[in-house]
Amino acid sequence: MIARAIEWLDGKLRILDQSRLPREQIFADLDNYHDVVLAIEEMRVRGAPAIGVAAAYGIALGASVIKTANKDEFLAQLNQVMQTFAASRPTAVNLFQAINRMKKAARGDGIAEINKSLVNEAKRIHQEEITATRQLSQLGAELVKDGFALLTHCNAGPLATAGYGTALGVIKAAKDQGKTVSVFATETRPLLQGARLTTWELRQEGIPVTLITDSMAGYFMQQGKIDCVIVGADRIAANGDAANKIGTYTLAVLAKENRIPFYVAAPTSTVDLSLSSGDKIPIEERSPDEVTHIQGVPIAPEGIGAANPAFDVTPHTYITAIITEKGVVRGPYTEGLKGMGSRFL
Ligand code: MRU
Repeated sequence: MIARAIEWLDGKLRILDQSRLPREQIFADLDNYHDVVLAIEEMRVRGAPAIGVAAAYGIALGASVIKTANKDEFLAQLNQVMQTFAASRPTAVNLFQAINRMKKAARGDGIAEINKSLVNEAKRIHQEEITATRQLSQLGAELVKDGFALLTHCNAGPLATAGYGTALGVIKAAKDQGKTVSVFATETRPLLQGARLTTWELRQEGIPVTLITDSMAGYFMQQGKIDCVIVGADRIAANGDAANKIGTYTLAVLAKENRIPFYVAAPTSTVDLSLSSGDKIPIEERSPDEVTHIQGVPIAPEGIGAANPAFDVTPHTYITAIITEKGVVRGPYTEGLKGMGSRFL
């Protein structure tokens, strides 16, 4: 059983610091919303659904320290808190869906009532992600055959979802159905979520995993060692184009070339029906230091230029199916995804 990535405990947000894993299991109790924003920016909490859940609790924390008895003034200050969260990471739509939900929940006769409503809404969002990721994992497991070797990228397990997991949830559910499964996990440069987190989670689940560098994926596909690719997503546009960790697009093209199914698993909180296609998804550009250094150690000559887009967009034509808690959708996606984002927006 994996330690909870996010927990609301006695009015504080307890997070498992993902930046320290797997070397250290450190929990941080956050009682200040600025610390939650920082934890998201510095990726101590990461993964699309987990970012949304953390932000929801963080907004409740921010609201609880607003010092005014005037409701309009309170709501104006609460809006500032929400803006700070909105500016933390741009790509995962779960963050913005959660902010919208919290905005709508800021209702009540008095400030105490609004505060209570905000905490309850954050808990509801968290519980919904737990339920949704369990459901989609069950549905996705039907696509996994006994003996399958699956390739996954980045980390889409309980840590990333504050729930059951998406890509890793599907793999776990297949195992629970009695199937023999094994995983190839890409290391996922620059921040090594695959090497550090996916292998750590799979080992705890007793699922055999082989760690490979990102550039080895094509080799293993060509060798016939991979039966399917399954990844999570940070934002899925209305036409099925899906943003996920940088390198996902490369894997999708390789999978198509090698006639390997390519699945995207995500709760509907990741579906953004307001964007018609993936070219409109904002892509986060992170510090070049993450590329020129590995865990603080320089690996390139000092002062060398580096680029660091954190995500890429896989066009829907490369995606065999999108697995959500409401069903497994196959192309053309526009019709199948319609109405699926309504839980949040
Ligand atoms: O930058 P990160 O680590 O937050 O990126 C995470 C991913 O890209 C995951 O694959 C995605 O959020 C799906 S999580 C279920």
